Amino acid sequence: MANLTYLGHSAFHLESGTISVLIDPFLTGNPMATAKADDFSPQTILLTHAHNDHVGDSVEIAKRSGAKVICNVELATYLGTKGIDTIGGNHGGTIAFEGGSAKFVPAWHTSSYSDGKRVIVVGVPSGFIVRFGGATMYFAGDTCLFGDMQLIGEEGIDIAVLPIGDHFTMGPTDAVRAVKFIEPALVIPCHYDTFPPIKQDAEKFKQQVETSTKARCRLLKPGEGHRF
Ligand code: NI
Ligand code: MN
Repeated sequence: MANLTYLGHSAFHLESGTISVLIDPFLTGNPMATAKADDFSPQTILLTHAHNDHVGDSVEIAKRSGAKVICNVELATYLGTKGIDTIGGNHGGTIAFEGGSAKFVPAWHTSSYSDGKRVIVVGVPSGFIVRFGGATMYFAGDTCLFGDMQLIGEEGIDIAVLPIGDHFTMGPTDAVRAVKFIEPALVIPCHYDTFPPIKQDAEKFKQQVETSTKARCRLLKPGEGHRF
């Protein structure tokens, strides 16, 4: 058995037994988060891109737990200067981690990091196809709709985690079109309601997914998990 817990915004926790993986762990300063950075001691952290609402508490968590941070090569080099272990990858590449693997796939977005004084551009954004606990999951990261999501769908996606907030990523209408490309068994929306510009009617998105595609849609509250 494995569990995928939503931590709010784009942050997720995958666990199976003693194996713990965090994805985009933005907890401090995340108004939706019900968990704190201190609650986790993962072996692995996956980062889709450098934006602060995705890198989040990664450095602090990795320093304390010894977690390896898997992300694009430029971000890996940058975060490596902060004294943590990183593994840099790039689109098309698969990197194995304790309990599973992550394949870098494209995402249409940007990838900059603000340290409070200046903004630096670090690599390009990605999504991940994660194989873990017997399931194949697609974490789209921050992205618009793009046609090559069909290629991602060909990998046989059990769970698609898609942004629906609009403004910075695709909104609900395009996310429903994405579901038609990906054809997952289950859709879990994210990256909505955290801040006023990305407020959405997630219930309406769920209805649209379930009436116009074969996928089921599950809305997770922050702190709530999906067992698989
Ligand atoms: Ni972003
Ligand atoms: Mn974001």
